[in-house]
Amino acid sequence: MKKPFTAAIVATSLLFAMGTMATAAEKLASLRGTHDIEGSSLKVSKKKLISQEGGFERSYKKQPPLIPHKIEKYRITLKNNGCLKCHSKKNHKKEKAPMVGESHFLTRDGKKLDHVSTRRWFCNQCHAPQLNAKPLVENEFVGLK
Ligand code: HEC
Ligand code: HEC
Repeated sequence: MKKPFTAAIVATSLLFAMGTMATAAEKLASLRGTHDIEGSSLKVSKKKLISQEGGFERSYKKQPPLIPHKIEKYRITLKNNGCLKCHSKKNHKKEKAPMVGESHFLTRDGKKLDHVSTRRWFCNQCHAPQLNAKPLVENEFVGLK
């Protein structure tokens, strides 16, 4: 007689647990919103790249500045760096572009080179362009003055 009794308790608690799980799931709002999971995905809106004359304000000292122009045409390979066509020591004046930071010429041991250090070769490892995208979640970050 003991067995069916335990089974009944297990079944009731399982039902109870499923009930609480369901209410918890209803309260969770995903970034997908109320869009039906079975339906096809929402159309992704195309974002525009922001070109900002004079550059973007920096949020703190030593921040890698954000890129204020389009970059899709500039390739970086092992031998060539499209960004340096304008930002190198040699070309920046002619191109009216700011020169890469002084730190870009230093090796990891602090030795100054006459060309951009390999540590700074892949520019978009640190510098990023900006899109007119709305933040996915609220963000109250305020930069340092
Ligand atoms: C055709 C020339 C040209 C090329 C190529 C170019 N830039 Fe620029 N870049 C500029 C000019 C001009 C500015 C200054 C824009 C302004 O302040 O209005 C600038 C600004 C910047 C800044 C902002 C500097 C600051 O102090 O705010 C960064 C970072 C930057 N570029 C990174 C890059 C990267 C990374 C690449 C390659 C993917 C690249 N640029 C390719 C011309 C160029
Ligand atoms: C490892 C991260 C890193 C990489 C890689 C890097 N940068 Fe920077 N960059 C920085 C930081 C940090 C600063 C701001 C401090 C400074 O000037 O050194 C900066 C500053 C700059 C500036 C503004 C200089 C000024 O005087 O205001 C330009 C322009 C720039 N970088 C372009 C480039 C280009 C072009 C490349 C690729 C050849 C590149 N950076 C690679 C981190 C990086």
